[in-house]
Amino acid sequence: MKSIYWTILVGIISLFLLASCDREPTVFVSEHSAVPLLPAQAYDYVSTSKVVNDISMPDMDLVNSFSTQFAVGTVGTNIGQSITQEVTNNDIATLGRVLFYDGKLSKNNATACASCHIQSKAFSDGDEFSTGFGGERTTRNSLSFQNLALGNNFFWDSRQRTLQDLIGEPITNHIEMGIEDLPELMNKLRNVSYYPELFKKAFGTETITEQQFSQAISEFLASITSTNSTYDRALQNDFEEFSSLEKLGMAIFYSDKALCGSCHTGANFAAPDAVDQYYNPSRGTTNIGLDLDYADEGREDGFGGEFKIPSLRNITLTAPYMHDGRYETLREVLEFYNTGIQAHPNLDFKLQQDGHPIKMNLSSLELDALEAFLHTLTDEDFITNPAFSNPFEI
Ligand code: HEC
Ligand code: HEC
Repeated sequence: MKSIYWTILVGIISLFLLASCDREPTVFVSEHSAVPLLPAQAYDYVSTSKVVNDISMPDMDLVNSFSTQFAVGTVGTNIGQSITQEVTNNDIATLGRVLFYDGKLSKNNATACASCHIQSKAFSDGDEFSTGFGGERTTRNSLSFQNLALGNNFFWDSRQRTLQDLIGEPITNHIEMGIEDLPELMNKLRNVSYYPELFKKAFGTETITEQQFSQAISEFLASITSTNSTYDRALQNDFEEFSSLEKLGMAIFYSDKALCGSCHTGANFAAPDAVDQYYNPSRGTTNIGLDLDYADEGREDGFGGEFKIPSLRNITLTAPYMHDGRYETLREVLEFYNTGIQAHPNLDFKLQQDGHPIKMNLSSLELDALEAFLHTLTDEDFITNPAFSNPFEI
């Protein structure tokens, strides 16, 4: 009897094999490799990070000549930012790049910094709120970033001053990455095949400390620089290649009619130095009158409704906009500034006139022009630069 079962079994197997013969063999392709694939020679992060020192700002006399040409009023001043974090060593930044893209930094081994900070979106994530390791949503919109070394006010409420200090926050955040304590994470990393070697290359020792860990990520962050937008290239040439719509947009941007450039200032179109005399103690935050009553009060020290003045570089890539991602398009943002500013008691004084929120009264042509100017801040080289890309991707 047993041989009958054998015959049947062999028959079934052969039929199965025959049937599968003309099928394509199944090949499993993984999008991600288990170990980082790094170039033999590290990218030159030290030089990359220094370029922010060389970004110049437009000559305000020139901008003034555009505004005279288009009769959009006078232009304000432009206050720069100074560099706050250096990249000391290419191998340290390389280690930081691996850590930034590694899901092992989270509780479920799947959520990396890069899950919410995606290079093609100028390191934002395209969502109103981000999804953390356990599927829960964050309460604020992921901030995009570039030229972070020019800042000293981080997060929407500017609660952090330095890149090095902020690293622990997303990792131990119960929604974002969910690691209960950092020493435990350091132990975990010691047992990941590629880390002891990478730490040795970077710091000369395989011991993995929290200090080295956050230094590495913060140096990588400081290397993430964007200085080759259409605007940057035009800047070299007195904006000759700008269309007249773009020139008009730039004039409006800096004009006292729209005031954009008085807050989104300097080379990074962001808050001026948060320790700058003029802005002290605002920490580079302000209230732009989005709401009369804020669901999220932003700054927690009595300055309700104040949020970080974010950089406008690569702004076309980072929708949705504002701390709560309330606007889908740049046009909606511009319409808000033009007609929607609310009379919040903390409203920035520049956005008030005689105690009332200003109405900018920009025409639709002027709004088109502003939008065209904002489009020139997009830097294609930045979002494709391999030095900032995912080292685990094949
Ligand atoms: C689950 C999504 C998520 C993950 C994972 C995440 N972030 Fe963020 N990140 C955010 C959100 C949301 C904000 C804004 C939070 C706030 O303002 O309170 C933010 C803000 C930041 C900022 C501030 C930028 C600025 O201009 O002020 C930096 C820098 C940053 N994250 C770096 C990191 C690093 C490094 C990691 C990994 C260690 C990381 N993030 C992991 C969502 C995330
Ligand atoms: C008084 C200072 C101030 C002025 C003037 C100002 N902004 Fe802003 N801007 C801010 C602040 C603060 C935020 C963040 C507000 C929030 O999310 O609650 C912001 C947010 C934005 C955003 C969204 C950025 C993002 O990453 O989500 C854009 C786009 C923007 N502003 C463009 C402009 C333009 C264009 C003008 C001129 C019409 C302008 N701003 C004038 C302070 C200012």
